[in-house]
Amino acid sequence: MITQDDSNTPMRFLVSAVASPNKVEGQLLSGAMSRKESVAILPSGQQTSILTIAEQGQQRDPAQARADLTLELIYSVSIVAGNLITPADDRPEFSDQFEARIRCSGQQSLLPGRMYFLEAIGGRSEVTISKLKYRLEDDSKNQYAANTLGPGETAVCNIALTRPIIYDPFSTCPATGSFRMLDKSGGELIAEGEIRHGLRRASNVHWQALDVDKQSRASIKQQIPKILWLTGLSGSGKSTIANLIEKKLIAARRHSYLLDGDNVRHGLNKDLGFTDADRVENIRRVAETAKLMLDAGLIVITSFISPFRAEREMARSLFEDGEFIEIFIDTSLEICEQRDPKGLYRKARAGEIKNFTGLDSPYEAPENPDLQLDTTLITVEQAADEILAYMEKSGS
Ligand code: ADX
Repeated sequence: MITQDDSNTPMRFLVSAVASPNKVEGQLLSGAMSRKESVAILPSGQQTSILTIAEQGQQRDPAQARADLTLELIYSVSIVAGNLITPADDRPEFSDQFEARIRCSGQQSLLPGRMYFLEAIGGRSEVTISKLKYRLEDDSKNQYAANTLGPGETAVCNIALTRPIIYDPFSTCPATGSFRMLDKSGGELIAEGEIRHGLRRASNVHWQALDVDKQSRASIKQQIPKILWLTGLSGSGKSTIANLIEKKLIAARRHSYLLDGDNVRHGLNKDLGFTDADRVENIRRVAETAKLMLDAGLIVITSFISPFRAEREMARSLFEDGEFIEIFIDTSLEICEQRDPKGLYRKARAGEIKNFTGLDSPYEAPENPDLQLDTTLITVEQAADEILAYMEKSGS
């Protein structure tokens, strides 16, 4: 399936042998490589630059794919055969779940759910077909439902690996976007595939990410990390509901953390007030903190007015699909003002507090929250239970 035109694609060099910490041999699989180019060594992510490029003893600048080359690097790095050298500013991605186009090229059928070996330039892993989406026929014009894939057949599938690999979409770079699937017992070739795209948001490659990642931390805790993002007016009931959610999670032996507006504003965000700009910064810091906590494998509950749609969307964009659950605690201004648990509405009405949300500072209600709860219709207990039920249902 690999096309032969590898020259207009990003530079990807596969190291085959290391002569010294700054001299390596290998193959330029795709693109062009020039002297002085800043490069990254993957998966470690270390950076260096190219000092010289030689092909069969002749200097080359630039060198074009495909070519067997010897490179001298400006700085010594720790590098081993199998590493990739790529431009520092145009790196491949890494992921452990993909949508792929797969052709069953051996004698055996390909069975969803069965474990195979996957081999790609960017790594090796065990792999299963998590979903056979459809079979393709007649030069990909027609799509058919299918449960298995017989010899010679082609399909579009989702695949799940047991460890992430470095990759580019096949359309970007065929060399690093192709893979082979092998039988686990005999090593027989079962299928060849092309990665269409990663199914989790891809990130740049770092050594740490390949060793210990969110999944491994979460798996020790036997839970799926989530962000339960509560938004609503002051006095709407966010903190009360958030507290009860956390109590229930801890009782169920889940590891959680509650980030609450009033508390965070005493520490991390004590330099921030209630102007629009400060609220934006408040939510940015909270979202980044929540992300670190999610990465640590926790179920994070945030309880902030978070009045602006744009910052809630920014917060959502930091997370993968399904991780971020936006919950609108929909209590009207009238009710919040009647409750006035901290006496703040009274003070704001008296002109003692400026920029008070709902009065002289806007609250942009969510248009499409994942959950919307009216606290005048349900109890705090019901609200907490409903949120937890939604979280369980949302799975991984
Ligand atoms: S946010 O708008 O930046 O998300 P956040 O949730 O951190 O606000 O803080 C809101 C809490 O700060 C309120 O529950 C209230 O106790 C207190 N507060 C003090 N001044 C204001 C104000 N001007 N507007 C809203 N809340 C205020």
